[in-house]
Amino acid sequence: MTQTLGDMAVEVLGTADGRAKTALSHAHARAWFAARKAGQALPLGTATPPLRPARPDRPELLDPRDVPRRRPGTPEGRIALLHAIAHIELNAVDLHWDMIARFPGHDMPTGFYDDWVKAADEESKHFNLVCGCLERLGSHYGALPAHSGMWRAAEETVNDILGRLAVVPMVLEARGLDVTPGLIEIFERAKDREAVDALKTIYAEEVGHVAYGSKWFNFLCGRQGLDPQPVFLDLVRRYFHGPLRPPFNEEKRAQAGLPPDFYWPLTEPAG
Ligand SMILES: [Fe+2]
Ligand SMILES: [Fe+2]
Repeated sequence: MTQTLGDMAVEVLGTADGRAKTALSHAHARAWFAARKAGQALPLGTATPPLRPARPDRPELLDPRDVPRRRPGTPEGRIALLHAIAHIELNAVDLHWDMIARFPGHDMPTGFYDDWVKAADEESKHFNLVCGCLERLGSHYGALPAHSGMWRAAEETVNDILGRLAVVPMVLEARGLDVTPGLIEIFERAKDREAVDALKTIYAEEVGHVAYGSKWFNFLCGRQGLDPQPVFLDLVRRYFHGPLRPPFNEEKRAQAGLPPDFYWPLTEPAG
């Protein structure tokens, strides 16, 4: 029997080990796009994703305030940065598969699933690229503690597809566009070619993920006759805790379909 896309998502979410999770994610993305190329789409099915994805025993998950900070000018600091990025990428794999299976009642066009399967496939590549960099430096994913709060945005928007799109791709992944050029510079200064290449791949592909968020957010607002900008500001204030911090990468945000009035008003706490 053919596996549904929902079954595939739940299988990825239920796999703890990072390498195993991303291998499965790649395989399922291949199956999805092979079916699409053959002129069909796999059925979405009715599988229910877990509230939280399975995770390996390591890294130890700590409150963000308790994760030690290290100077990026040192090799240890660069390992810590790569470790934090690997953790973000692994969460992103789960976030995209969760997006696929979490909101079946919305009658989304097949293109919605194409976009998030592609994004999940790319996040899986990102995780493995960054793990490769860590391993070359004598470390590995799991060697250091990591943030425990990363799944919070998903849990809080578990019943709200517009909220999920607003907070995950359009706030959190857009933040990645703001900070990645600075990260690339750190690894350029350290002459770590492999890390620079990995980060450049991530930077180029993340623009697409933010763009998918903004595309489907606008689609859903349009279908309901809602004005996207005030709805977006409202949802971010509800589900994202704390103001957004400039500087913003206005060029890449624009390329991803995020106009300035979707973030500048959020730099101040709501009155
Ligand atoms: Fe990524
Ligand atoms: Fe992403």
